[in-house]
Amino acid sequence: MPDDDCIITRRHYNYIAEHTRGDDDFLIELKKAAEAADIPRIWISPAQASLMQVILKLHGAKQVIEVGTLAGYSAISMARALPAGGRVRTIELEPKHADFAEDWIARSDVADKVVVLRGAGVDVLKTIETGSADACFLDADKANYPKYLDECLRILPVGGLIMADNAFAFGRLFEEADDESGVAAVRRFNDYMAAEKRVHAVMVGIGDGCWVGVKEA
Ligand SMILES: C[S@@+](CC[C@H](N)C(=O)[O-])C[C@H]1O[C@@H](n2cnc3c(N)ncnc32)[C@H](O)[C@@H]1O
Repeated sequence: MPDDDCIITRRHYNYIAEHTRGDDDFLIELKKAAEAADIPRIWISPAQASLMQVILKLHGAKQVIEVGTLAGYSAISMARALPAGGRVRTIELEPKHADFAEDWIARSDVADKVVVLRGAGVDVLKTIETGSADACFLDADKANYPKYLDECLRILPVGGLIMADNAFAFGRLFEEADDESGVAAVRRFNDYMAAEKRVHAVMVGIGDGCWVGVKEA
């Protein structure tokens, strides 16, 4: 097959979703409650959750940092991929989201594995000790992704795992966009990642595009 012959369409996307583990009853209820609480439906897809769980398991990750908790869906999903004693520290700016997530995390099967850290991503990341995590997932305000990446590269050891959501800019990567939409910020971050010599990374075409990379230096 010529290497420019593989195009991921909506049909492929649905097919992937149909052949990937879906949400359990607890996560279905969490999403319903989040909607009822007017929390936006901007969590990662179940297929992306599975992708990240498989990668975390392969990596043997124990300590994960997430920027952007929302309702706790991805934090709970990631925590389920960690061994006993593993932990997800997830950072959230909006008190309403942090309150909701803490409530649902406390009721989940991974209550002892997830901690919500309240505050702005950059400020909180700066308080996290160097070498204290082996994986990071970025899923908050897109304009700050380059700063988040720099802080995560300080925190992670060589070989540490970096994942970042929305590489396809909410499906609008190739559209004209103003800066407010976040699309331009995603394009800037994608260029930043592509040029970043300290990380070997690739965009995976699952969900809204997920960067997956390893810190090399
Ligand atoms: C896309 S949602 C996260 C979805 C979540 N990772 C999931 O898949 O279940 C983005 C979250 O980042 C939060 N956020 C936005 N700006 C932030 C910032 N500067 N620092 C920390 N969190 C921020 C938003 O309040 C929102 O809850």
